Amino acid sequence: MASSVPEVALRSGNARPMPAIGMGTAAIPPVPEAAKNAVLAAIEVGYRHFDTAEAYATEKPLGEAVAEALRRGLVTSREELFVTSKLWCTKCHPDLVVPALRETLQNLQMEYVDLYLIHWPVCIKAGPPSFPAKKEDAMPFDFEGVWRGMEECQRLGLAKAIGVSNFTTRHLDKVMAAATIPPAVNQVELNPVWQQQKLRDYCAERGVHVAAFSPLGGQKWDGGQGNAVMESEVLAQIAKARGKTIAQCALPFLQVSLRWIYEQGVTSIAKSYNMERLKQNLEIFDWELTDEDRLKISQIPQKKVLQGPSFFSQEGEFTSVDPEDLNVVE
Ligand SMILES: NC(=O)c1ccc[n+]([C@@H]2O[C@H](COP(=O)([O-])OP(=O)(O)OC[C@H]3O[C@@H](n4cnc5c(N)ncnc54)[C@H](OP(=O)(O)O)[C@@H]3O)[C@@H](O)[C@H]2O)c1
Repeated sequence: MASSVPEVALRSGNARPMPAIGMGTAAIPPVPEAAKNAVLAAIEVGYRHFDTAEAYATEKPLGEAVAEALRRGLVTSREELFVTSKLWCTKCHPDLVVPALRETLQNLQMEYVDLYLIHWPVCIKAGPPSFPAKKEDAMPFDFEGVWRGMEECQRLGLAKAIGVSNFTTRHLDKVMAAATIPPAVNQVELNPVWQQQKLRDYCAERGVHVAAFSPLGGQKWDGGQGNAVMESEVLAQIAKARGKTIAQCALPFLQVSLRWIYEQGVTSIAKSYNMERLKQNLEIFDWELTDEDRLKISQIPQKKVLQGPSFFSQEGEFTSVDPEDLNVVE
């Protein structure tokens, strides 16, 4: 199964090619044992790409699962895997970047990550993460200094490639201006209900690969209601028109979402802790959407799920970044 997942070569760094679907490990609330078992199940059904972050508290369970998979012979070496982790906002200080990655690697029991991302373009006073972050803890983001730290991670061989997450074109401009190693990836919320065409065009022109979080509409990260992808009539109709797919799984329109993302040249980071759903989410590589499907999807009204401002502050503006800037419609 693993070999049937296409891969994409990143244009910056020296990571192995990135499998076109990754398993998201974040869950609310974090459940370490379930995360570990889910990663093992994912490896069994063919996933070789895993997404974690300090903020998810899933680095340790992921590391334990990989160690166990190696012991059981489910994979023969760590090199078969593509592992991404992320630098949290409290570590977005130039001198804290390399130490943060060293801690991440200890959690993962690994020598390197394939990809290390700045989690958000937000800097918070150093210290243990708290959610939501407090307004008075916000600090100006030193794009140049933090990116130098990221470049050092790659030069030291601790990260094969480096990139960013939740960056708009304006944030990317700042990194690009400072970079001697350009970002390989920008991981952002992206699905048929939040398509981010302008950001994708910008990234394509500059060789930055786009990865999609919340490709299935996401979890209720900020307590919001509903899921615009799972409730999309357009996706449901497209799925219904495909008898074969509908017979295969309970919620086939989610495969429509993953297939559309794949056809846009974007890598999905899809979370499931359930073996059957993990399998379903890989079944998107042997069929295609029609031109009519693509046209219908392009007309879906747009709606962002993850609201940066509510995530970071309940009480007004951050000084480091205009919170509204995190939600720019691109
Ligand atoms: N960079 C960032 O700032 C950022 C932000 C958010 C997320 N992420 C990453 O992206 C990953 C994915 O995003 P996400 O977790 O927000 O949401 P998602 O992958 O869009 O959706 C996950 C939800 O869909 C369910 N699901 C998965 N496959 C399904 C299927 N075939 N049928 C029905 N339900 C299905 C999952 O439940 P079950 O587990 O019960 O299947 C889960 O509740 C995260 O885990 C994390 O690694 C990154």
